Amino acid sequence: MQVFTKISELRKAIEEKREQGCSIGLVPTMGFLHEGHASLISRARRENDCVVLSIFVNPTQFGPNEDLDRYPRNPEGDLRIAETNGADFVFMPEANEMYPRPAATRISVSGITSLLCGASRPGHFDGVGLIVSKLFHIVKPHRAYFGMKDAQQVAVVSRMVEDLNLDVEIVPCPIVRGEDGLALSSRNVYLSPEQRSQALVLSETLRKAPEWLAEVGGDTERLKARISTRIREMPLADIEYVEILTYPDLEAPSAEVESSWIIALAVRFGSTRLIDNRLLTRDDLAKVIHSIPMQVAKGE
Ligand code: PAJ
Repeated sequence: MQVFTKISELRKAIEEKREQGCSIGLVPTMGFLHEGHASLISRARRENDCVVLSIFVNPTQFGPNEDLDRYPRNPEGDLRIAETNGADFVFMPEANEMYPRPAATRISVSGITSLLCGASRPGHFDGVGLIVSKLFHIVKPHRAYFGMKDAQQVAVVSRMVEDLNLDVEIVPCPIVRGEDGLALSSRNVYLSPEQRSQALVLSETLRKAPEWLAEVGGDTERLKARISTRIREMPLADIEYVEILTYPDLEAPSAEVESSWIIALAVRFGSTRLIDNRLLTRDDLAKVIHSIPMQVAKGE
């Protein structure tokens, strides 16, 4: 495994691989790696000849009052996980390598960024779009791996790739959870033991959601209310949103639309903001709602 801090050196090494006919897989991360990141790296390992892992805490996707300065870091641990899971190249640039001066170019995907995390984190997805497109231009990967833990990020990056005809396949990967069900996140280290145990309510409600959806006859407003009521039973939980939308277009669910639904949650425990979600495919929905056409728009 080779570690790079300079764009030009990484480019040269990747160019040699490409000339040898190697397929290139990219896994973009902000480090403090855990099993969720590891699952992306090992999937990229299985599907590509050359695996590039980027580790960069991207300042442009953090708001002024967010946790950029205290974002957890562990470069030595990250390199161990990278190596164990089969990364060939690790790219760990300093901020001034990626942004020698503030970028004047904006990558702004409209519509789907105005809700869910985009609503409470203005500019966040512009920052993600910018860094991901910079990484795509530097690495020129055949495939890029993203976790469904950040489902809106997958939707935004996929839309950017579609709109700009970028020649890269976006590979969405399943959410990796701890044994207790909590979705793994670098930010989980901020949680006190009490917050952590109360945070299990997120995965619990998502696990029960299909059953609850059947019980409320497919009424999404009633399902949202039921999930919120259960989360509010946890005294340390402060709900930012509980949403049910179509995926990946993030529109109000409608019976006629042949797309999946996403149940998406963002909940604060103290100053730590956790997100989690569950995707329900049309097949999943058909199993729990017997008359889909009857169930929509009851909340109006
Ligand atoms: P980061 O939060 O480090 O996550 C890197 C990748 O790991 C993302 O695609 C994320 O969805 C995935 N991931 C995180 N936790 C996961 C879990 N429990 N299961 C499966 N995948 C998981 O997301 C970012 O960094 C940044 O926004 C980035 C795309 C790197 C741009 O800066």
